[in-house]
Amino acid sequence: MCGIVGILGKAPVTDRLVESLKRLEYRGYDSAGIAVLSDGKLERRRAPGKLKELELVLAAEPLDGMAGIGHTRWATHGQPTKANAHPHMTHRVALVHNGIIENFRTLKDDMIAAGMVFESETDTEVVASLMTHYLDEGATPLEAFTKTLGKLEGAFALCVLVNGEENLMFGARRGSPLVIGYGEGENYVGSDATALASLSNRLIYLEEGDYATLSRETVQVFDEDGTPVSRPTTISQVAATMVDKGNYRHFMQKEIFEQPTVVAQALGRYLDPNAGTVCLPETPFDLANIPRITLIACGTSYYAAEVARYWIEQLARIPVDVDIASEFRYREPVYTEGGLAIFISQSGETADTLAALRHAKAAGQHIAALVNMPGSTMAREADVVLPIHAGPEIGVASTKAFTCQLAVLASLAVKLASAKGEINSNEEAGYVKELNHIPALMAEVLHHDEALQGIARSISTARDILFVGRGIHYPIAMEGALKLKEISYIHAEGYAAGELKHGPIALIDEHVPVIGIAPEDSLFDKTLSNLQEIMARQGKVVMFSDSETKQEGMFAQLKMPSAGFLSSAILYAIPVQLLAYYAAVEKGTDVDQPRNLAKSVTVE
Ligand code: F6R
Repeated sequence: MCGIVGILGKAPVTDRLVESLKRLEYRGYDSAGIAVLSDGKLERRRAPGKLKELELVLAAEPLDGMAGIGHTRWATHGQPTKANAHPHMTHRVALVHNGIIENFRTLKDDMIAAGMVFESETDTEVVASLMTHYLDEGATPLEAFTKTLGKLEGAFALCVLVNGEENLMFGARRGSPLVIGYGEGENYVGSDATALASLSNRLIYLEEGDYATLSRETVQVFDEDGTPVSRPTTISQVAATMVDKGNYRHFMQKEIFEQPTVVAQALGRYLDPNAGTVCLPETPFDLANIPRITLIACGTSYYAAEVARYWIEQLARIPVDVDIASEFRYREPVYTEGGLAIFISQSGETADTLAALRHAKAAGQHIAALVNMPGSTMAREADVVLPIHAGPEIGVASTKAFTCQLAVLASLAVKLASAKGEINSNEEAGYVKELNHIPALMAEVLHHDEALQGIARSISTARDILFVGRGIHYPIAMEGALKLKEISYIHAEGYAAGELKHGPIALIDEHVPVIGIAPEDSLFDKTLSNLQEIMARQGKVVMFSDSETKQEGMFAQLKMPSAGFLSSAILYAIPVQLLAYYAAVEKGTDVDQPRNLAKSVTVE
């Protein structure tokens, strides 16, 4: 993964590199570093840990120059040590890299055999060594760069500075995204529009296989055959201002509490409450004639897909497959002609989801992307984009993006149902009314904040916690478990409530809290029986339900508002988010940047 930035400036660049790296920390925060050309000579500073560690190093040993590159790392090859931190540098070049060089081992062995010495365990260092080798052989910088690219296999984005070359920078994109920004007498390279938001809004997105040479005055892009090409300039909408936490302690907490507002915002783009209809962007295919839908995503976005399956199948009666993106291509899926594949991704950059999108596109499926980042690769490659309008999500654990994804997917399900004639206009208006009421109900659920803090405190010492639910609430149970484990590091699993007795019930004893997501719907009695089975084995049951009845023997019960088929799953997402949040706060973890994770996962 990792985030990269490069600046060829007419003023000193160090502060601006660090500012861009702050915007890029969502791509990884295992280590950070910068290299600048100072009086024509490459110098660097690096530090393991979060960006603030690099800032401390820079305060102790200042460094500046008019050309520089920066990197924030999510470790793939080698531990997050200083030696493995980017930029990787030789006496000739310094470079930063996002992605994986798959053939690095062979290249490295060959270079070691030829007498070259390596100081890190990374795959990236071979790129610097290879380019140095070509430069030492007498190649020009551009020749050395392109010869190096020719040797690399894998997915990567690169940004390179050459010792002694004050007005030259290289960028290359293969598999991992890279954008170039135009300035006044300056030019920039970055992983995405966010990286460059405070530098430029005039961007070009490199296409697959492209590489570029930059000076302060010019940008020249080449395609993978080395032919000069012109790529369109786009105006980025990403705001230059940094999002702040306001009065909240963490971004995650702020984002949980923002949900009524952003879900209302998202629904406002898809619903016409006066007409009682759902309005979608124009599609280049007929919604009434879709024979099959495939929903593909990772992590939390995958659970949104699992929820959507219930809505689409039950309302529109279209068969739906749901796939984890990293598995999708490898099961050699059988596509249905004219089928619609919908890719759900907050970032729009997740490598597994993007690879699945390309697979489905190559097979001739219609492609829709449900993304939060409008300029993302998935948005650019899809036939139709369904933005979720959640606004920037900074907390690594997804919260408001999840509920906005659900709001858009629920709207889509209604639209598909009406396009297919499965519901009439009165029924459509009824669903639109239900959807419009969701933000008010979400605000009501957020009033349980304190009660959830209390429950979280009492279960935060547990080693294992299970979440159970049935039907459309089963994916919410899985999402609850994911949220809890990723930020509190408590082991948690989500199960279909009826599945517990087929194995996992063996885990139950008085030390294992079980969170039951049990709205009083047609499955309530069955879920309640499953919770009774847990209590009979001393399990500590916490039930989230709109049921008024106090259940004997339960550890805690949270009274939820009553909700309908489209609203229920969205509402029950909130208590599982708050439970995870407060358990993490109780345990003192880094809630917004939990260990080992990154917000945008751009490696497979
Ligand atoms: C969990 C979480 C991740 C992401 C997953 C997919 O809280 O945020 O599981 O949902 O990495 O990311 P996107 O949606 O950007 O494709």
